[in-house]
Amino acid sequence: MIFTVAIDGPAAAGKGTISKQVAARFGFAHLDTGLIYRATAARVLEGEDPLKAAGGLRPSDLERDDLRTPKVAQAASKVAAISEVREVLVAFQRSFATRDGGAVLDGRDIGTVICPDADVKLYVTASDAVRAKRRFAELSPKNPDLTEEGVLQDLMVRDKRDRERVTAPMRAAYDALQLDTSEMSIEQAVAAAISAIEEKLPQPQADL
Ligand code: CDP
Ligand code: CDP
Repeated sequence: MIFTVAIDGPAAAGKGTISKQVAARFGFAHLDTGLIYRATAARVLEGEDPLKAAGGLRPSDLERDDLRTPKVAQAASKVAAISEVREVLVAFQRSFATRDGGAVLDGRDIGTVICPDADVKLYVTASDAVRAKRRFAELSPKNPDLTEEGVLQDLMVRDKRDRERVTAPMRAAYDALQLDTSEMSIEQAVAAAISAIEEKLPQPQADL
């Protein structure tokens, strides 16, 4: 069975958390496409050419444990604005999306560019203040110098760049279900995603 769930939205809105839980619930594979841009950026920060870095990515590069830093996030948003970089990454994402058994992909352009025919599209948002608070809570234990205000500024700069770039800008697909998680617990957000998917899942055919 091919069944694709596209989850897009701005930084720290809850895309990854929802995607992981939904994938586990339905037994779908999950691809955090942000890691692709983060892994490319990590190689660029080490001196590699962006296009070579993107073209040479291996699945193991997505497991590097240094991809979640604010520095890599900003660099990811810069390399993600390069059209040629995005182009070399399309085929891998599309083949992941159409693998047998179902797939959830989360990112910025999944419902609009990578999988315009996805079975379910969600656009997950939350207020700027809530997103900054969530990301600060995640990062501050390992980064004692961070402030919530600094995290907010970082998210704003990245979102603006992602929204205003020419190629595959961050936006909701016209047919995406918008989910504002500002006032939702993780459980409520996941439940909303699950019911959107259940509505679209093929029903088992009765034996005739
Ligand atoms: O993938 P994305 O950057 O959109 O966000 P995330 O990494 O899934 O979520 C960012 C943080 O917000 C995580 O620490 C989640 O546990 C938290 N979160 C939350 O507190 N409430 C939600 N409804 C969703 C996420
Ligand atoms: O977790 P968070 O939402 O903070 O970021 P991410 O999903 O890991 O994405 C890091 C950066 O990669 C984003 O700011 C975008 O510039 C870029 N990205 C993209 O352009 N297209 C995607 N499908 C996913 C990420």
